[in-house]
Amino acid sequence: MRQDSLFNDVPPPSQIRQVDEHRLTQLKSQIRHHDYLYYVKDCPEISDGEYDRLFRELLDLEQKYPDLVTSDSPSQRVGAPPLDELGKVPHERPMLSLDSLMEPEEVLAFDQRIKRELDIDHITYTVEPKFDGLSVELVYDRGTFVRGATRGDGMIGEDVTINLRTIRALPLQLQTDGCPDHLVMRGEVYMRLSDFHALNRRMTERGDDAFANPRNAAAGSLRQLDSHITASRPLVVTCYEVMAMTGPLPTTHWDELERLAEWGIPVPMLRQQCETIDQVLAFHRETQEQRDHLPYEIDGVVVKVNRVDWQTRLGMKSRSPRWAMAFKFPPRKEVTEVQDIAISVGRTGTLTPLALLRPVEVGGVTISRATLHNADEVARKDIRVGDTVRIERAGDVIPAIAERIPIADQIRNEPFQMPRSCPVCGSAVAREGAYVYCTGQAACPAQLKGAIEHFASKTALNIDGLGKKTVAQLVDQGLVKDLSDLFRLNQEQLLKLEGFAERSSMLLLEAIARSKAVSLERFLMGLGIRQVGQHIAKVLAREFGSLDAIMAADCDRFQTIREIGPEISESVVSYFQEQSNRRVIDHLQQLGVSIMERTAPQNHSPLPFSGKSFVFTGGLVSFSRDEAKALVERLGAMVSSSVSKKTTYVVAGTEAGSKLEQARKLKLQILDEEGFKDLINTTEKP
Ligand code: IVH
Repeated sequence: MRQDSLFNDVPPPSQIRQVDEHRLTQLKSQIRHHDYLYYVKDCPEISDGEYDRLFRELLDLEQKYPDLVTSDSPSQRVGAPPLDELGKVPHERPMLSLDSLMEPEEVLAFDQRIKRELDIDHITYTVEPKFDGLSVELVYDRGTFVRGATRGDGMIGEDVTINLRTIRALPLQLQTDGCPDHLVMRGEVYMRLSDFHALNRRMTERGDDAFANPRNAAAGSLRQLDSHITASRPLVVTCYEVMAMTGPLPTTHWDELERLAEWGIPVPMLRQQCETIDQVLAFHRETQEQRDHLPYEIDGVVVKVNRVDWQTRLGMKSRSPRWAMAFKFPPRKEVTEVQDIAISVGRTGTLTPLALLRPVEVGGVTISRATLHNADEVARKDIRVGDTVRIERAGDVIPAIAERIPIADQIRNEPFQMPRSCPVCGSAVAREGAYVYCTGQAACPAQLKGAIEHFASKTALNIDGLGKKTVAQLVDQGLVKDLSDLFRLNQEQLLKLEGFAERSSMLLLEAIARSKAVSLERFLMGLGIRQVGQHIAKVLAREFGSLDAIMAADCDRFQTIREIGPEISESVVSYFQEQSNRRVIDHLQQLGVSIMERTAPQNHSPLPFSGKSFVFTGGLVSFSRDEAKALVERLGAMVSSSVSKKTTYVVAGTEAGSKLEQARKLKLQILDEEGFKDLINTTEKP
């Protein structure tokens, strides 16, 4: 072998750096894209394992080249060194508040005033939810997120930039070309209800105070001096207003939202254009009906005059615009009295103290019970029988006691004590952190009933007709002693139950038989493993593909998955280590329950366009720009807004401009729409 060819095999460091730099840019763009699909669109395209591999590769490269770490890198979402205090920042535009209206008559008067002031009799409004969180100002320069602040006094807010960076739904870099040089937006940071309840559970388990409501949880999480804490909190953001931007302005509020969405910014999904004020009233009514079923808390709808020039003509008052208002829902807070404290035993055996209240109406629902979470929480809030309390209701769950209202000179009862034995089955109780558990397991009728109700519920096996009452009878009469007994039931047994006749018993047996074909994620969810709700069940099913693979995995394997920490791993492993659980699963399968497995993701095969980059210029006929982009990205390519030597393909549609010229100069491969379609059609899909 000749000497010089030996040297030729090792590229010079500058070339290695160039390749690494290119890969780094590609990784950032891919991770950004997957964050968007996962956190904003809620439809991930790669497995968590694959995502983690991309992320680790990014971290490794950034460690190798610290000078290449940019503020918009996904690695910057994990948090920064703690601050001594949050700095103050003046807002670019005052952050106004909204006038609140409660009654339909007030809304009609608002519409009349707008029409009178504009001297126009047909106004289009945009309506959207009023998110119950924390308002923030977000600033992007040349597409990069550079600053974010809380509202503060409306003129000056607190600088929470590094904390906002940890919110994965917030793009650190905007998508597509055409985004403005400078963009100032307003949005709401909030917490989804399921995340809020899970967080409160984690907080109380650790002995920390529970948050009274999702809004306090969001505010407390965002206004942290240590952004690592913010990073560990499940915050999301939705943007609903452009406060300032360079370049051509959208002419309506609706278009503003559409443009923001094109750039990858989360905007309200639930939004509507209303041509009449009656449609506004109807949207308010329908949204209020949905309120308890939404995954996040809202406290009304916001009504905005759609046309931006009319907004400008209407102007503003000292603290609020004249062109918008909040049409609120009735409040979900009320003051009442604790008449007694009872104990409920859940399906996992947790003993939860419940305040039995003097019934009050809260947001249209009569409330007579509120959760007190656990013994520590009762002690911390010092709630005793006879106390006056303020309760709050968030979503479709049992309301919580926000606080005790001290009454001067009141003689109070003795502090509350947790029982030493299970009030349902009499078994001894054990304590784990702040929680007290019944040790009776399936021998405790309360736990068994809860487990069966959960197994049969809509999001699990979805057994129609197997409600609370029937489950209670099946357990109390000894017909069902574990989950598998459901599949041993016969008509004769059902006919003996109260409320069952020939037809209803047949229907229930049919529903039980139908539920035997069940997807892996529903089956997992139905088992009622602690910490495994609908979302984690989906993550596990997607990652492992089969029940056997999940049962064989150890804690280390679970923890390689993005959303699974030590607590969930521990819980899943110990569930499947328990012989009685394995026995029930065996019996279920012997009785014909067939778990439809998912194909495990192919993590190692590279995608056909991996390493290739595309630039689109001009208009396409068969696809929108975003569709074309998503298509090639799904196949592993990177899409860039500017042409360079590294560009693999330039797709030139109608009226392609300077990018096409540049591509010609650089002698790049140029495809017209037909050529692009051919390339896609001849590419083997992964
Ligand atoms: S628009 C100038 N739209 O409600 C109008 N506000 O006082 C700017 N809010 O603190 C606000 N959801 O943070 C707007 N869809 C929405 C909203 C919304 C929640 C908050 C906002 C403000 C409060 C009203």
